[in-house]
Amino acid sequence: MSRIVVASNRGPVSFSRSEGGGLTARRGGGGLVSGLAGVAAGTEVLWVCAALGDADREAAGRAPDGRLDLAGHDTGGAAVRMLDIPAPTFQRAYNSVANSTLWFVHHLLYETPRAPHFDARFRRDWQSYEAYNAAFADAVAQSAEPGAKAVVQDYHLSLAPRMLRERRPDLRVAHFSHTPWAPPEYFRMLPDDLVIAVLGGILGADHAGFLTRRWADAFLACCDQLLPGARVEDRDVTYAGRTTRVGVHGLGVDGRSLRERAARPDVAERREALRAQVGGRKLIVRVDRTELSKNIVRGLAAYRELLATHPEWHGRVVHLAFAYPSRTDLAEYRAYTEAVHETARAISEEFATPDWDPLIVQVNDDYPRSLAAYSLADVLLVNPIRDGMNLVAKEGPVLSADGCALVLSREAGAAAELADDALLVNPYDVSKTAEALHHALLMPPGERAARCGRLAAAATALPPDRWFAGQLDALD
Ligand code: G6P
Repeated sequence: MSRIVVASNRGPVSFSRSEGGGLTARRGGGGLVSGLAGVAAGTEVLWVCAALGDADREAAGRAPDGRLDLAGHDTGGAAVRMLDIPAPTFQRAYNSVANSTLWFVHHLLYETPRAPHFDARFRRDWQSYEAYNAAFADAVAQSAEPGAKAVVQDYHLSLAPRMLRERRPDLRVAHFSHTPWAPPEYFRMLPDDLVIAVLGGILGADHAGFLTRRWADAFLACCDQLLPGARVEDRDVTYAGRTTRVGVHGLGVDGRSLRERAARPDVAERREALRAQVGGRKLIVRVDRTELSKNIVRGLAAYRELLATHPEWHGRVVHLAFAYPSRTDLAEYRAYTEAVHETARAISEEFATPDWDPLIVQVNDDYPRSLAAYSLADVLLVNPIRDGMNLVAKEGPVLSADGCALVLSREAGAAAELADDALLVNPYDVSKTAEALHHALLMPPGERAARCGRLAAAATALPPDRWFAGQLDALD
């Protein structure tokens, strides 16, 4: 039994089968895991997560009560209980409801032909989402000490707080959203009963946390305008006889541990390899999982426009774009990945010369190589259409060796904290993004270093342990 239980879809580890047939654990990716992994390690926290594939299911199946024995794996040391949710239920809850519907709504990603059909098939998927949330609520209810704190994470688990409250009224429950929150006029695209279920589900918690004021305000506006019977007063929402406090907890990076990680030999080795590839030219870096919200295609288009309108950069700049695979079970994500590669190919065909490769795209996820690229970048490009926070915008300046300029989308949560020293862009405005890249490349070294120093200070002001402590304290 644990005093603090974290619940999230993705946990700090995920297993794959090694060549010899054994199971190897790997660190999970994404903002949620990056934020929580360091915090949960070696503490009294129990982390409840879902088995994401067959190898995870096998690992979970071997553990008598689902608690994994992670000795010998480089997993950060958290206590983990992995839930073996039946594969069809998991697929529908994760792929259809969470990632194809709620993610799209919160990131305003629907285009008319792709707008949702809430039909009988979706209703079936929604039942899986309910079952998946119930499985988490059961597991947390079984694992939590009397009066314990349960911290439920993200859009996959918006029903779990209320379900947990029904099972264990003694618990103190928090919910935290790592994504943006959609404004009411977009959120109401969901059927009325789902609007009530999602908002009412989160309002089963004592505290609902968001990364920025903007997302918290959108949630409050949804409660106010779309949830019959809810009363919103300042930061409090009263609904179904109880009150939930809405809070803002910004998430930054732990500067010391990031720098320590970047000082290891595997990073130095990759830095040398990248240096050789870049060959003394200016370097523009981007690092993303290939998610529809990351806006990689427009970012590449902006780089193309930079080369087309400023031929003086030909032969003098290289763009390193790391686009790591994500959610490849979804057709939209596979098509998007293809669009990224097509755009990249076109740029290379148009501009490459025998001794200059203007664009290098890498897709194999290599964390030490990302860290090495941050240290070398002259310019870091982070241009999501919309993003809860975006930790790349924070990690880059912390690791920059000589100071990098940050071109940042105004629609990333991080823009609220980094606006003074980043070059902010409208992510849809390709021409203005190209211009910002040009200015960033021309920024005098002194100004660049000074801005980068202030960006790094802002990025490390709210390290994950403070972010997490803020959620726990809010429950006292
Ligand atoms: C990003 C978002 C999180 C989300 C995660 C899910 O990290 O910031 O809000 O939980 O993606 O990614 P996954 O790979 O688990 O679908």
